[in-house]
Amino acid sequence: MTAAKNKGIILTGHRPTGPRHIGHLVGTLEQWAKMQDDYTCYFLIADLHVLTTDYKHPERIQKNIESVVVDWLASGLDPERSTFVRQSALMEHAQLALLFNMLTTVSRLERVPTYKELVKELKLNPSAGTLTYPVLQSADILIYKADTVPVGEDQMPHIELTREIARRFNKNFGETFPEPEGYLSKTSKLPGVDNRMMHASYGNSIRLEDSSEETGKKVMRMYTDPNRIHATDPGTVEGNPVFEYHDVFNPNKDEVEDFKSRYREGKIGDVEVKKRLVEALNEYLAPIRERREEYLNHPEKAIKILDDGTESARPVVQATLKEVQEKMGLQ
Ligand code: TRP
Repeated sequence: MTAAKNKGIILTGHRPTGPRHIGHLVGTLEQWAKMQDDYTCYFLIADLHVLTTDYKHPERIQKNIESVVVDWLASGLDPERSTFVRQSALMEHAQLALLFNMLTTVSRLERVPTYKELVKELKLNPSAGTLTYPVLQSADILIYKADTVPVGEDQMPHIELTREIARRFNKNFGETFPEPEGYLSKTSKLPGVDNRMMHASYGNSIRLEDSSEETGKKVMRMYTDPNRIHATDPGTVEGNPVFEYHDVFNPNKDEVEDFKSRYREGKIGDVEVKKRLVEALNEYLAPIRERREEYLNHPEKAIKILDDGTESARPVVQATLKEVQEKMGLQ
C-alpha cells in the first residue's frame, strides 16, 4: 500500500449545468470513482465557470449544484475518501486565476479551441470571463498542485495551457507547481437516444434521475437502423446506438453477440432487442438509483457534504495562494 502522502493528486470537476446523464456516468463518473483509492481526489463544482457563458439565470444555479452533487454521490464519488469543493466559496481560486492572467497573453487565449468554437457558435461578443475561462481552470488545478486531471478530449487544450502556466510560473518564480497530465477516459462517447451527441439541451439523454419507466420509454423510442422497415430486413449493428448501449450496459456478452448476428440476418426485431436493453440498463442503474434515494428527500445532506468538503480544502488553497503571493512579491 502506498502511504497517503505518496499518492498522486487529482483535481477534476463539472460545471453545475443540471442533472447528470448516463453519458457522464460511463464517460467520467465511474472512472473518477475508481481512481479514489489511488489518488487524493478533489471534485470541483465549477459554479464560477457557469457564469462565463450564462449569468442570466441565477435562480438555476443552486438547484443545479444540488442535482450534480446528488448524482455524484449516487455514482460512487465518496466524501469519506475524496473532497468535494464549491469553487465560488474559495476565493483563492479566483485570486490565483487573476495572478495567472498576468502570465498569460490574450493572443494565447484567443487560440484556445473551445474559445474559438464558442465565439463561432454563439456569434456573440465574448466576455473577458469567457476568454479567461481556461486560466480559471488552470488555477483550479494548480491551487491543489494536482498532477492528474481526468477530463474529456475537449478539455485537453485547457490542460495544455495549465502546463504552460505551471512552467512559466516555475521558471520565473522558482519550482512551485507540477505540470499536470490530462487523463483521458477510455470509454468512447455514448450517443444520445436520437444518435446525436448526448447533451442535456438536445433532450436526448437518459438521466440518472429518470425512473425505470421513463428509461424504458426513452429506450423504446430510441433511434435504430433507419433503413430497416421489417424485422426480417437485414439490419446494421455498427453505429446503431441500441447496440452501442448493449455493449456498455448488458453484462451478458454472449446474448449481445447473438442479438447482433440475428439482427444482421434479419432474424430479430428491434422491439425484442430494445426490451432486453431496458432490463439491462435498469439493472445497471439500480444501485445508483438506490443511493440517490437517500438524498432525494434530503438534498441538504448533499449540500452539507459539499460545504464540509469546501471547508476542509480551504487551508490547502490558502497555503498555495500564500506561497504564490510571496514568490510574486506581494507579501
Ligand atoms: N471546464 C470543465 C468542463 O466544462 C469544468 C472544470 C472547471 C474543470 N475547472 C476544472 C475540469 C478543473 C477539470 C479541472 O467540463
